[in-house]
Amino acid sequence: MSVILSSKAQLEQALNPYWKQGARIGFVPTMGALHAGHCSLMHAAKAANEIVVLSIFVNPRQFNDSADFDKYPRTLTADIACAETEGVDFVYLPNYDELFSGHSVASEVPLNGLDVSMEGASRPGHFRGVVEVVYALFDHVNPSTAYFGQKDFQQLAIIRAMVSSLKLSVSIVSCPTLREPDGLAMSSRNLRLSNIERQEALVLYKALSFVRDHWQKLTPEELMNQAKHLIAASTLRLDYLLLVDPNTLLPIANNAQSAVVCVAAYCGAVRLIDNMLLLAD
Ligand code: PAF
Repeated sequence: MSVILSSKAQLEQALNPYWKQGARIGFVPTMGALHAGHCSLMHAAKAANEIVVLSIFVNPRQFNDSADFDKYPRTLTADIACAETEGVDFVYLPNYDELFSGHSVASEVPLNGLDVSMEGASRPGHFRGVVEVVYALFDHVNPSTAYFGQKDFQQLAIIRAMVSSLKLSVSIVSCPTLREPDGLAMSSRNLRLSNIERQEALVLYKALSFVRDHWQKLTPEELMNQAKHLIAASTLRLDYLLLVDPNTLLPIANNAQSAVVCVAAYCGAVRLIDNMLLLAD
């Protein structure tokens, strides 16, 4: 049985014995609406730690659009059942006031320009909200290791930058994006797609696969143009498709180096993101 903890005091009481023993604590922060991608994070945490804590908190500070926040899927009963199946020891359901009481160093931590492009450009304030909540959650849970999905590639780079700038003692582990059998990246937001939109959303995977399959055969510009063309021919509304350096997230100059191709587009009213890592030969 997973133990549900609904306040910081309950969390502290539950984790105190483990903190005292120096037990390895694996932490999976989420916004709920759990899917197989989250299960893979819990699985990785379970395999490498003595106890696993999962948090569920839909963080208003990382939504630049309040309608998007309101519509974010909330499936708490199913999430708790999923955590139990995965053998999670503690499910933490923090509250806003306890997470965000007082000033936080995360409000000013430098993000080394990693938050400027892509999601940062399209969703002002999003990554500041992410680092604030992740910092607060790390502060509450005090984990040895925290697990994040590579689907949020830019988020992962920014969380690593925050951990490094603030010299936090937590290790960050990234887990590969999980895909549906037809290639669509698993995402909580997929729950909001109609059946038709769900089919149309596949064009993102097709565009990324095009780049992967022609990587080293075409120039970055040709790759991006042709992939954008595929999306333009669909019903999706493209926000960006960029080939960037996996470390700096700056646009790559040529394909002699490794890169990540990142895409964001609206499928109906639902904003979807995806990416693929492209390794140099
Ligand atoms: O990736 C997410 O689900 C969220 O951005 C996170 C890391 C849980 C912070 O709210």
